[in-house]
Amino acid sequence: GCSGFSWLQSLCQLFELSAFSGTWLSSPPCEIFKKIEEPAAATSSSPANIKKLKISSCQHSNTYASYYCTISMDGNRDQTVYSATVKGIGEWWEARLAAPAFVAYLTIYNRLSSASWLNKFNLLVDGVECNRVDLTEPFSIANFTCNAFGSAVRVVTQLSNHLVICEVEIYGY
Ligand SMILES: *[C@@H]1O[C@H](CO)[C@@H](O)[C@H](O)[C@H]1NC(C)=O
Repeated sequence: GCSGFSWLQSLCQLFELSAFSGTWLSSPPCEIFKKIEEPAAATSSSPANIKKLKISSCQHSNTYASYYCTISMDGNRDQTVYSATVKGIGEWWEARLAAPAFVAYLTIYNRLSSASWLNKFNLLVDGVECNRVDLTEPFSIANFTCNAFGSAVRVVTQLSNHLVICEVEIYGY
């Protein structure tokens, strides 16, 4: 069909009807149509596409004992089973997505008996911070928004204890 414009009145009819769902400007007499990109429309249509993203592998800055990073990506949401790094500000857990994606948010399952150790942490995607979390009350299970595109999703503790995580689920598209 027509892309952009046509000088012939009859060709104006060839614009696909489906293309008229957005906002269009029409310059009389009909020949020029210009679609206005609407970011609001793009974001409002995306939540329907949000799904759990596949994690292919993980890494720890420094694993504590046998509390391997994989324990936080094994599908087990049990809040007594966890991965852990050695103690220290800046220690991290990182997931590698099976494919680069838009990371909308993370759902983190916390270890209840040490929940306050996850009160302060940063989220990064491909090395760029997408959220800075600083809670006054510990959480049990919570969503943390990110809204960044990439393939390496990292949780970096800002507290001096072990970084302990039961499970991380990454949602996006
Ligand atoms: C996280 O967000 C999703 C999607 O909005 C929602 O279904 C889920 O209940 C939320 N989980 C928590 C723990 O708030």
